[in-house]
Amino acid sequence: MSNEQPQSYEWRISRKPKQASEASDEPPYRLGVLISGSGTNLQSLIDAIERQELPGVQITLVVSNQPDAYGLVRAQNSGIPTRFLPWQNRAESENRLRHLLSEFQVDLIVLAGWMRILSADFLAHFPNRVINIHPALLPDDGTGSTYTTSNGTQIPVFRGLHAVKQALDAGVKITGSSVHYVTPEVDAGPVICREEVSIEPGDTEESLHERLKAVEHRLIVEAVRRLSHAK
Ligand code: GRF
Repeated sequence: MSNEQPQSYEWRISRKPKQASEASDEPPYRLGVLISGSGTNLQSLIDAIERQELPGVQITLVVSNQPDAYGLVRAQNSGIPTRFLPWQNRAESENRLRHLLSEFQVDLIVLAGWMRILSADFLAHFPNRVINIHPALLPDDGTGSTYTTSNGTQIPVFRGLHAVKQALDAGVKITGSSVHYVTPEVDAGPVICREEVSIEPGDTEESLHERLKAVEHRLIVEAVRRLSHAK
């Protein structure tokens, strides 16, 4: 006998990937996701929405400053509008970005592997509406130069580029990833959620980053869930 449960009509309907607007009468909570590369965190959001783990949430727009970012393909495969936005002149590009975000009525801007710094002026237009994933542990309020891990060890805070390598080079035993609000100071905004990850003997930047990304894929969904509930 097959173990498969008979699937009712309702069950099949409810399993169909839905746009948030179909799921309820509430207006959707619209995400604009900014990427520069592979977009595995973007994929995690797409998958969570398709599995209906983020009710009411919709990705309205994906923007990349790199024309060949694989994340653009991921978005297109899911029917999400994409834009390539060259980033030669920051003021001009930020202006174009602001118009795009407003055209697509974006509620929350998610920096998911976005490799450009956004100016204080740009951020002032979106108070508490820009979040970032950073592959290191940040203190609760984002500021300061040390972080105390769950076992009471103080480690330096690794900000900016190559945070994974910085942790390896520093010889710490624990690092992690954080989702935080974006403020004008790079990687120094209040934390929404984070998780520690052990550094194993023999870890390389690549192996450690892979494990961090697996954690990030959960964290980014959790952060969006919290913010969409708090809207
Ligand atoms: C992630 O590790 C994130 O922490 C960092 O950039 C990486 C992006 O990866 N900011 P992906 O493009 O989502 O695969």
